[in-house]
Amino acid sequence: MNKKIKKILAKKNKTKIVSLTAYSKNIAKILDKYVDIVLVGDSMANVLYAHKNTHRISLENIIQHTSSVKKGIKNSLLVVDMPKGSYDNLKIARNNAKLLIKKTGCDAVKIESNKNNFKIIKLLTKNKIPVMGHIGYTPQFKKKFKVEGVTKFETMKLLKEAKQIQEAGAFSIVLECLSPKSAKLITNELNIPTIGIGSSTLCDGQILVTDDMLGLSGFYPKFVKKYVNLNRIIENAVKKYTKEVKLNKFPTINNFLNGKRNRR
Ligand code: KIV
Repeated sequence: MNKKIKKILAKKNKTKIVSLTAYSKNIAKILDKYVDIVLVGDSMANVLYAHKNTHRISLENIIQHTSSVKKGIKNSLLVVDMPKGSYDNLKIARNNAKLLIKKTGCDAVKIESNKNNFKIIKLLTKNKIPVMGHIGYTPQFKKKFKVEGVTKFETMKLLKEAKQIQEAGAFSIVLECLSPKSAKLITNELNIPTIGIGSSTLCDGQILVTDDMLGLSGFYPKFVKKYVNLNRIIENAVKKYTKEVKLNKFPTINNFLNGKRNRR
């Protein structure tokens, strides 16, 4: 088993697993110093490409961004979302997962559950491709953003789904927008770590979309904590630069190359 995955599994019931998303090298390099898992999420569809949903992001888009992210990663586990349409049947799923790993050098793939694709997880793990599952709000298959597992009946259905994903061989599972009660039950019942988003602290770890927690994306539902308002910081820097260019204050003598080679 991949050493990095072993490390993640060993954290269950001991220490929290910290995860964030990245779509490029520069951000990945910063995250890599602190987080256990970096996810190249198909959330790039909304965050980078301004699509209405995650459905139109292609495998090529994911491969390109993952190749960039990989250049910033040394320590953390690199997990990559398989985009909608890239795992529609067993053969397509296996070929595309293999392609993703070969082209990017990622450690694992993430697959959203549609309550029916457990066999795909089983096939990939049999082929030594580590898989992270994803239940609750799964944007590739659901339109409505709502908290799941509110009633006992819903909770038991989610638990069954999570157990089927574990039995299929997944090494971990994302719980998105689950009630605290469901998150707690699933986390206690599974042997593999649960990674929560909008699902309370009662999970083995947490994940957020980095652009959301940095205040860049403009998407701030209640479960996102904005740790900084990067939009405002960038805007202030751009304003200052604009002013200095107009007033001939930039570049100064310090910014002349003096015959030295530029970085590019
Ligand atoms: O695409 C993504 O970024 C995700 C996380 C929100 C879990 O799936």
